Amino acid sequence: MAILITGGAGYIGSHTCIELLEAGYEVVIVDNLCNSSHISLNRVAEITNKTFTFYKMDLMDRAGLESIFARHPIEAVIHFAGLKAVGESVQLPLSYYHTNMTSTLILCEVMKKFEVHKLVFSSSATVYGLPEAVPIAENAALGATNPYGRTKLMLEQILQDLAASDERWGVSILRYFNPIGAHKSGRIGENPNGIPNNLLPYISQVAVGKLTQVNVFGDDYPTPDGTGIRDYIHVVDLAKGHLKALEKIKAGSGVDIYNLGTGRGYSVLEMIAAFEIASGQSIPYAVAERRPGDIAVCFADTEKANRELNWSATRGIEEMCRDSWRWQCSNPSGYEEDSFVLHELAAGNYHKTAQ
Ligand code: NAD
Ligand code: UFG
Repeated sequence: MAILITGGAGYIGSHTCIELLEAGYEVVIVDNLCNSSHISLNRVAEITNKTFTFYKMDLMDRAGLESIFARHPIEAVIHFAGLKAVGESVQLPLSYYHTNMTSTLILCEVMKKFEVHKLVFSSSATVYGLPEAVPIAENAALGATNPYGRTKLMLEQILQDLAASDERWGVSILRYFNPIGAHKSGRIGENPNGIPNNLLPYISQVAVGKLTQVNVFGDDYPTPDGTGIRDYIHVVDLAKGHLKALEKIKAGSGVDIYNLGTGRGYSVLEMIAAFEIASGQSIPYAVAERRPGDIAVCFADTEKANRELNWSATRGIEEMCRDSWRWQCSNPSGYEEDSFVLHELAAGNYHKTAQ
């Protein structure tokens, strides 16, 4: 039986594919590469030395998706694919609503048609809006402040309605806090297009000399050093959480919602200091205006995931920064072609690609 990974070429998806392959799962990936590169998949093949199947396909291609379900014995889906940039979602709301909502609806309809009822869904801590208190538990009040966040909230609701309609559905909604870091090999990592929006990719591009200084968005928040606090989680810990969620839904039904974070927050200035230590580089910064829509403090109550999934994040901030830095230094321009892996691909040793 196979696991279908949508968005498997992306940042979190590629790390999760490694964990699945190393755990012995058969993996089928669908990604239109709108925010990723096929090279990440070459490197997944290189790291794991395992085969998998990749389809370069848009999830909105219903007929194409049906042909994948017809061809592979898919038992569950991990659904990462979607658009994720908060600022862009404010500029391009129709694009965000269309892509995130329609692709998920089509995916669920095709799953239903092929009687595949197990789904792990990528949600986000953004669904907590302006949290009333921290740490944030799964039963905290919900609210979104931008179109991206609203797609996640609406999709969570749709999945709950779907599961309520047929008890064969088993859905795990995972609310990620702030994923950072990279695989320890330094071969895959986060590869943002253009100037990064998120803090860690920005810091690492300053450290490597691509950008001149970090703009610290506000130092007058009600936090110990005045800068925003977030719950940064190593992407490999996050990926491992998906395997635990998968095991749980395979055995049960209904909807479970879990926070995936560490339960600990770090400020912007603490992250800059940690990255300076990890990289040995000095990281200039300047305090700038607050970024509209940002909140002061956000970190997870992880007790439910610890207890019900038997999962907890084990990698600390030093390892997160060290692994991000290794990825950044060895791939200063992001993903570039590898002659070694392409040669192996041509020989058909690593993975098959179908249009
Ligand atoms: P990513 O952009 O690296 O990966 C998403 C992948 O989906 C990309 O490879 C992209 O090409 C693909 N994709 C997008 N639309 C598609 C479509 N219509 N058809 C097929 N493929 C499509 O993002 P990521 O950081 O790996 O995030 C994965 C998921 O986790 C997303 O749903 C995102 O909203 C969610 N999430 C991410 C974060 C974060 O900080 N990275 C935080 C919370 C939640
Ligand atoms: N920050 C800066 N300078 C920067 C970028 C960020 O000071 O150049 C600050 C922000 O103000 C915030 C912290 O660094 O205090 C973290 O900001 P990020 O942009 O890295 O992350 P956010 O918490 O704002 O949002 C991210 C994703 C959202 C997701 C959320 C929770 O972008 O999509 O984590 O998972 F919803």
